[in-house]
Amino acid sequence: MLLTSGQISAGISSFVVFLFTSLLFLSGYVLQQRTVHSLQQAIKPVQAQAQHNAQSVQIATSVPKTFGNAPAASENEAHQSTLSSKEDDIAAEKWSQVAYVQLVADPTKLCASVMLFGTLHDLKSPAHRVLMFPKTWAITQSGEVSDPYLSTSRRLLKIAAKRYGVILKPLDPLLSGTDESAPSSYPLSLLYSLTEYTRLIHLSSSSIILDSSPLDNILTFPSSQIDAETISLDALTASASSSLFLISPSQENHQSLAFLQQPQVSKAAATTILETAKFPINIPPAHAINPDGSHVTLSTMSSSLRNIREDTFFNSTAFWTETAFVHLWDPPLRGPEYEVPREMKQSARPRNQDAAKIWDMLYDTYKGRRYDHCGLELDIWRGD
Ligand SMILES: *[C@@H]1O[C@H](CO)[C@@H](O)[C@H](O)[C@H]1NC(C)=O
Repeated sequence: MLLTSGQISAGISSFVVFLFTSLLFLSGYVLQQRTVHSLQQAIKPVQAQAQHNAQSVQIATSVPKTFGNAPAASENEAHQSTLSSKEDDIAAEKWSQVAYVQLVADPTKLCASVMLFGTLHDLKSPAHRVLMFPKTWAITQSGEVSDPYLSTSRRLLKIAAKRYGVILKPLDPLLSGTDESAPSSYPLSLLYSLTEYTRLIHLSSSSIILDSSPLDNILTFPSSQIDAETISLDALTASASSSLFLISPSQENHQSLAFLQQPQVSKAAATTILETAKFPINIPPAHAINPDGSHVTLSTMSSSLRNIREDTFFNSTAFWTETAFVHLWDPPLRGPEYEVPREMKQSARPRNQDAAKIWDMLYDTYKGRRYDHCGLELDIWRGD
């Protein structure tokens, strides 16, 4: 077959067109790849930068306070800024060695502890928050009749961990072979197993925190500066009176606990060891002086408001702004978690008008936080 010159030139020109189109495509492709690569390059450092920024912001917000005594303000700003990240790291490490701890063995008391942690979270306390509870609460036993308290407990444990940054520590009973569901199987001496902390503060449940800074201070001050009274743990459990106490877990205490937990140790032997072992706790004084010189009531009981005479002046502003922690304890009332008949509440209310207003505010605050932090209403009191 012979090709005409017209056909040949058409063939050549279409080949040329094809060639250039391909070249155009190829160059476009190369250009695009380069752009993509440079975009990737451009994005990478931004991501790294963003991560770095997020990290330093997190450290800055989680450690708003300096550990112990505040360092003197530096005159040299530039010097200060180069040091600040290192100081933040040191502060973060020190804050990670102290914690607020709650040991809850009775599911009806769990919300009270979650409320305390929720408040510490809201007030931006930089110390760790640790919640100890029976391991059985965390294990789902499929096929068994579900306990309504247990499902509430699981929900609250989840809230504590996710919303309030609480570290969860599931517990075995102190003595092996004891009833796993009995609250008495989880005595406060188990707090001594937290040897990763140098100092812990335990707050009674049924209480509210109004100001966390003075409490943070007693966690971080050198122990020589805390004029605390030292008693042993079983003296405390016997009197059940302290609203707030400090412990410093030691290896020695932890070892005696670990020894007790061995199955071959008889219950009688364990009880003897528990009675003779020293589990010292420190009860800080009720009143303290802040680093800025102002006075603060570290811990008080709501029933003390009843001691204020009707005809004396009570400075309610001072009470509200200068009190860190209040244990809501007003016998015959059973606790702030109960809605009680009006007459019953009236009998426990302080006679001094201003003190009574504060008393109402304390109970209302408790009720509000119970709803905000646990999503629970007050329980209706149905008598003994
Ligand atoms: C009540 O206490 C506040 C805060 O401490 C103080 O500023 C105020 O002057 C006191 N009021 C009276 C009437 O003493």
